[in-house]
Amino acid sequence: MIKPIMVMGLVTVLSMGAAHAGPRETILEALAAQASADSADFTEFTAERGEQLFQANIGTGKPETPSCTSCHSNSATNAGETRAGKLIEPMAVSVSPSRYMDPEKVEKWFRRNCNSVIGRECTALEKGDFLTFMINQ
Ligand code: HEC
Repeated sequence: MIKPIMVMGLVTVLSMGAAHAGPRETILEALAAQASADSADFTEFTAERGEQLFQANIGTGKPETPSCTSCHSNSATNAGETRAGKLIEPMAVSVSPSRYMDPEKVEKWFRRNCNSVIGRECTALEKGDFLTFMINQ
């Protein structure tokens, strides 16, 4: 009779763990695995570096979009605007709770926007830092 109880206990623990890790945590875990593979120096993502990326005037991509703030406004908690004048909801999770829940959407826009601003794709480190900043805003 002990065995089924142990199995049930294990199932409960596992499903609690799964319920705890939401889509954002899953995205961050995958990015952390990639960042570790990219560099042995990687320890963790930081909101500070994420904020720097968000605010930086990079200018190595398209001339009309030198920075993430070119479209997302210079505050994570404010709405932004596309080049065509269409509203972009704020990037900070505190004001836009549905952000960064869909891994495909996140990947698609990182690819597109990093190419526009930097002229290359963002690294896993840059993406993880950016998300860490926005999730903590
Ligand atoms: C040319 C305008 C523009 C620039 C510049 C821009 N973005 Fe965006 N970004 C958008 C639009 C439009 C969306 C999609 C609409 C939305 O999610 O509200 C978006 C969405 C995103 C998303 C997905 C959000 C989600 O909810 O999953 C991420 C991540 C993102 N941008 C990161 C960046 C980063 C990092 C930079 C700077 C390297 C940047 N963006 C620069 C226009 C821009």
